[in-house]
Amino acid sequence: MKIIKSISHMRKQVLMWKKKGLSVAIVPTMGFFHKGHLSLMRAAGSRADRVVVSLFVNPAQFGPNEDLNRYPRDFERDAKMAEATGVNCLFCPDAKDIYPPGFQTWIRVEELSQGLCGTSRPEHFCGVATIVAKLFIIVQPNMAIFGQKDFQQLQVIRRMVKDLNMPVRIIAHHIVREPDGLALSSRNTYLNVKERESAPALFQALKIAEKMVVRGNLSVPEIIRAVKRHIQSFNNTKIDYVFLGHPESLRPCQKIVGESLLALAVWVGKTRLIDNTLLKPQVNHANRKDKSKDL
Ligand code: PAF
Repeated sequence: MKIIKSISHMRKQVLMWKKKGLSVAIVPTMGFFHKGHLSLMRAAGSRADRVVVSLFVNPAQFGPNEDLNRYPRDFERDAKMAEATGVNCLFCPDAKDIYPPGFQTWIRVEELSQGLCGTSRPEHFCGVATIVAKLFIIVQPNMAIFGQKDFQQLQVIRRMVKDLNMPVRIIAHHIVREPDGLALSSRNTYLNVKERESAPALFQALKIAEKMVVRGNLSVPEIIRAVKRHIQSFNNTKIDYVFLGHPESLRPCQKIVGESLLALAVWVGKTRLIDNTLLKPQVNHANRKDKSKDL
């Protein structure tokens, strides 16, 4: 596996691959790899001839009081894990090369960046969109793989790619979980023993909502109430938001009529966790009212 720090070296490497007709996938990361990252890397390897994993803790996506300085880092361990997973190149640029003095060009995906995580993290998605755009310009991948845990991020990036005509296929990868349902995240390492016990509350709440929908309860207020009640029954939890709405527009809905996104952000102690699921009403439940009219 090649470890590349310089932007020009990265460009040359990709050019060589492209000249040979090889396809390239990128997995953008901030490092401190866990099984979720490895799963993204394997998915990339199964689709493309060459896999680039970028490792860059992007200062632009952290707010002033967020965890940039304490974000977990272990380069040696990450490099070993990526190599063992078959990654061809680990791209780990310096912040001074990505954001040189005088840098002033930002990408803002207007509507999709607001609401959900954008409410408590107003500049976050501007930082994400800008770094992902830069990575796409430097690496020129045919495809990019993103985890579905950061659902809003995925939609922001999809919109950016569409709006800016970027020739990159965006592939969403399913959420990888611990045996008790906790979605894998580098930030899970912040949790102490007691907080870790409360952390599966998010997954359990999503399951409660899924069951309600399968049983035909399509009332948004009732589902949100049940989700909140479950999370609040755990120690050390504080809800940031519970969102139920359209998965593409990310606008909230009053009633579930088709596939809907249920997304959560919850503080567990000092750690903010996110998770989500797509609620799929059964066709007979979704149409029940209309059908009864026909009879
Ligand atoms: O999901 C992440 O780890 C980051 O937001 C990303 C996409 C690597 C951009 O820094």
